[in-house]
Amino acid sequence: MDKGPIGVFDSGYGGLTILKDIRRMMPEYSYIYLGDNARAPYGTRSFDVVYQFTLEAVKALFDMGCPLVILACNTASAKALRNIQQTDLPAMEPGLRVLGVIRPTAEVIGDISRNGHVGILGTEGTVSSRSYDMEISKISPDFTVTSVACPMWVPLVENNEAAGEGADYFVSKYVNELLDKDPGIDTIVLACTHYPILYPKIRKVVPGHIKVVKQGEIVAESLMDYLRRHPEMQQRLLTDGVCRYFTTENPEKFNGLASLFLDEKVDVSHIDL
Ligand code: DGL
Repeated sequence: MDKGPIGVFDSGYGGLTILKDIRRMMPEYSYIYLGDNARAPYGTRSFDVVYQFTLEAVKALFDMGCPLVILACNTASAKALRNIQQTDLPAMEPGLRVLGVIRPTAEVIGDISRNGHVGILGTEGTVSSRSYDMEISKISPDFTVTSVACPMWVPLVENNEAAGEGADYFVSKYVNELLDKDPGIDTIVLACTHYPILYPKIRKVVPGHIKVVKQGEIVAESLMDYLRRHPEMQQRLLTDGVCRYFTTENPEKFNGLASLFLDEKVDVSHIDL
């Protein structure tokens, strides 16, 4: 059987925040990053559309030889993962796998929050799916989960305005909304992979005693653990340390911003889904 890279998918640039930690912790593997920038944001789209777009991306990554795809996108994990795992994968070549980012995050929240008051900041799609409420309550049933959707944050990142003055207003707006809903929160999860790009501004407005959780390391550790438990998948993975990038947008546009988020220059190719 041919070995292949790990596929990492997001609606746009956000998944790069996950890819960065995965590559830092597992540099030996090969990766293909796919950003559907031309159709981002996904956060305000319907269940059916997010599912359809995500399935197209997953199939493209399988076609490029990836036996394993990480949905480095909370919205896609919330709206498409279950359907893909239960309906689409069984009809495909055996052994292909798709993993998301919500379950691994919910699994560690119990160890991070001291008082069980957790805040979720995510896209409208992620928040309205109530996926975090459900996953956290399975593992930590006595926790109180309070969520706020931040529809302006992804457009700020996708349009390279994350460091601009305009972002300050919207960062304070959603953080304050969350803390007004539950002033007892001791942990806030950045439940959208784009949000770590706004982290410096978020950290400034969140009171110091509240932890702000980014998902990159959590997802990377969970992937390492998955591969330890699934040697049959681990053996199917290429280990030449190469990472390739694909976008549904104009490659030049992607290149400029991606290099900023990854602190390195990347070479990206266009792909049609
Ligand atoms: N980065 C994605 C997430 O984690 C989706 C953002 C979007 O396209 O709205 O939810």
